[in-house]
Parts: sequence; structure tokens; C-alpha cells
Amino acid sequence: TIATSPDFPPFEFLDENGNVAGIEIEIMNLICQELGVELVIEQMNFDSVLPGVQAGKYDVGVSGISVTPAREKNTLFTDPYCLAAQAIVVLNGSPITCKADLEGKTVSVQTGTTAETYCMENGYKVSSFTANADAEAALVAGKVDAWVIDDLTAAEMVAAYNEDHPDAPLVILDEAMTTEPYAFAFAQGNDDLVNKINEILEGLLADGTIASIFAQYNAPYTAP
Ligand code: ARG
Repeated sequence: TIATSPDFPPFEFLDENGNVAGIEIEIMNLICQELGVELVIEQMNFDSVLPGVQAGKYDVGVSGISVTPAREKNTLFTDPYCLAAQAIVVLNGSPITCKADLEGKTVSVQTGTTAETYCMENGYKVSSFTANADAEAALVAGKVDAWVIDDLTAAEMVAAYNEDHPDAPLVILDEAMTTEPYAFAFAQGNDDLVNKINEILEGLLADGTIASIFAQYNAPYTAP
């Protein structure tokens, strides 16, 4: 059973039939095939994913989860399969054009994310939202100076928004806030299973499968 928060395109999102789809679901399907197990998907808010995995409610967290030293204290991660960045999104015409401009300003983030932790620890005023879409809405409403969110998801959500609002688009700054690797998250003590999955992942990375899944979703791939 995987725990996922499908508000995070292209990694996991609801397709037109209401099914959970995305890059990480494809990767997990391949891993489950190799392991000979059935993939069962549980949907939840992002801030419930890691606690649920740590409590043993779900086998694995699949949610664009960044590996950090703090999380490694109570979570067992697979090897990373890609590198992501935290993007800074602002309103068109914003005076904020680089990371330094944002110092001490107000940002919106998703609850429980590395964006939230980073911004809180680095002196930003932080407005947290359970749903990514609400963090975006706070920026659109002018309640915050910037929205901090993982780069590929930022690219998709901003493109969708700008299609509907060409006159007042959102802008992703060239400079990122931070970079971080993504991996799948297990409760501690699952070393045998995680070692097996690392072997499978290594094969999928080496033979270009992972890169081709990103390409299938029109997402630029950065190796870890
Ligand atoms: N990479 C970030 C983190 O680990 C954000 C992940 C958000 N994922 C989601 N499915 N909404 O905190």
C-alpha cells in the first residue's frame, strides 16, 4: 500500500477518470511488478503521508518526498531517483526578481513540506496551506509576496493558471530557493525491502527507464 497526495503533477495527480496517475505511480508500478506485489493506493493530504508511513499504516510514501537529514532520523529512504528544486513563484510585475529580494517577506507553502521547513528556518514569514492549490490562491489574491513549491509542479500549475489568465500570469523566478533529491519513504527497519527496491531502481536509472517516464510527462529530468 502506498500513501500519496495526488495534488502534485506531474508526479501524482488525478487523471480525467479520477484515477491517481503520474511519474511516481509509473515507477511504483514497475517496482511492484518486479517484486510481484499488487499496488494499492491510499490518498491523503501531504502532511499525513510521512506520519502514516512511520506509524506503519502504509508500506511506502510516494509523494514527491524530498530526502533531508531531519527526515532520515525517523524515515528510511530508498536511493534518490531524481533531483528537484524549490521554485519561487511571484505575480507578474512583482519587484521580487531573485531569491535575495524575498528576504524577510511573506511566502505561501504547503503544510509539512520542505518548502515550509526551509522558509521557517530562514526568516521568511510563512503562510501554510494543506492543499497546494490554496497556497497558489494565496499568491493570486496578493496575500503573500511569493509561493514556494517544487519546480516541476510549479511549472505545471503555473502553465495551467497562465492559460486561463494570460493577462495576469504567474512568474517562476530563474533562481531556485534550494535543490533536493526525491526518494520513496519507508518506516525504519525495512532494510531488506529497501535494498531490493534500490537494486530495481538502479536498473531503471541505468537503462534510461526513469528518464523516459519523465519524457512521457514532458518533464525535464535531472539525475540525482
Ligand atoms: N518535495 C516536497 C517535500 O518533500 C514537497 C512534496 C509535496 N508533495 C505532494 N504530493 N503534495 O516536502
